[in-house]
Amino acid sequence: MAMQNASGFEFHPARLGRETQEALVRQVFSALEAAPLYRPVTPGGKAMSVQMSNMGPLGWVTDQAGGYRYQATHPVSAEPWPVIPQVLLDLWADLADAKTPPDACLVNLYRDGARMSLHQDRDEADMRFPVLSVSLGDTAVFRIGGASRSDRTRSIKLASGDVCLLAGDARLFFHGVDRVLQGSSTLIPGGGRINLTLRRARPA
Ligand code: SIN
Ligand code: FE2
Repeated sequence: MAMQNASGFEFHPARLGRETQEALVRQVFSALEAAPLYRPVTPGGKAMSVQMSNMGPLGWVTDQAGGYRYQATHPVSAEPWPVIPQVLLDLWADLADAKTPPDACLVNLYRDGARMSLHQDRDEADMRFPVLSVSLGDTAVFRIGGASRSDRTRSIKLASGDVCLLAGDARLFFHGVDRVLQGSSTLIPGGGRINLTLRRARPA
């Protein structure tokens, strides 16, 4: 059953069944042939432990020279990003916004102890649009707090097929991934976890 709380955080465990997950993984890997994973670097010059790519008209990128931003092309190949799979557009229409489609889908691959430190998603133009997150593969120990970095946090396990939504006040809640439980799923060829986050980066 989906869980919603007053903050606007929604958790939809097992929203996607195994066959849908398998089809989605195939689509993501085919997108990654056109837009290969690369290792992003923070504005501070630190290599992130996740490997990234994007799908959609825009992609979220970071490097030391340009910082956090959205752009229409892959930072290495300079090619446009591949399209967002229809199943994700449908999921966004169902859970996030029926009128305005997402214009960016970040692909994060967690392998070999990759994690993501506590942060806010704040590079998008209009925070009224939520961030929709789809977990595939190994289970993540996800942490979510409040609008201030110092707010109390709680930990939620995100398993393959789980979907969550950062909407309302929770749109700007600090969140991150403490660790990934290696080998907890057989979904991803080569192992690990893929997280897909759908966003609306530009104004509607
Ligand atoms: C993110 O915040 O970009 C990723 C969250 C996750 O991997 O679940
Ligand atoms: Fe995030």
